[in-house]
Amino acid sequence: MSILAPLSPRPVTVAGVSRYLALEGGDGSGKTTVADALAGRLRARGDEVVVVREPGGTALGEAVRELLLDSEILDDWAEAFLFAAQRAELARRVVAPALSEGKWVISDRTYYSSIAYQGRARGLGEEAVRQINEIGLGDVLPDQVFVLDVAPETAMPRQHRADRIGAEGIPFQEEVRKAYLALAAADEKVVVLDGSQRVEDLIERILEVAT
Ligand code: TMP
Repeated sequence: MSILAPLSPRPVTVAGVSRYLALEGGDGSGKTTVADALAGRLRARGDEVVVVREPGGTALGEAVRELLLDSEILDDWAEAFLFAAQRAELARRVVAPALSEGKWVISDRTYYSSIAYQGRARGLGEEAVRQINEIGLGDVLPDQVFVLDVAPETAMPRQHRADRIGAEGIPFQEEVRKAYLALAAADEKVVVLDGSQRVEDLIERILEVAT
């Protein structure tokens, strides 16, 4: 018997409610604050919520996070595959089981980060990076993706500690931002929010779209 939770089916237990939400944006865009506040809001009304972050969220994911963010240098494709590998682990072991128990999953980043950062800003190609991720995820894909859009000049100084990728600089972050806007234009799952709004207003809007 496999020790892995099955990838399918991917149940959404409440009609019309998107339970797997992802927050996206450039470095310093405020995703983590919004993810935590959103989880608090849902819990306050009695819902069960699992918050995950990428890279991370599993033992493998946290180990890979260190490799990805603290290594001196990594080949761009090695970087893309490591992100995809930790993500498959998270999807199978944490996200799919939580969804099948009827919990919300709020993810601080998802594979749209890889499409934007590795696919576009690193220049590996958005479609190739999408594919290597979707192979590992099966149908464990977010229902809605919210991009917190903030100009890099405003967002970058907000980072607590710039990691290897966060330290790439403003032109790199501009590419990331363009990639997110292009993803939103092509995919109705992706909603762009003005990241300079108050956290409470962002949460209202997210809940309006998701429920
Ligand atoms: P964080 O600052 O949101 O924790 O993300 C860590 C860094 O990793 C950030 O600079 C964005 C980057 N990243 C990618 O380049 N590709 C990915 O797929 C993910 C999830 C993050």
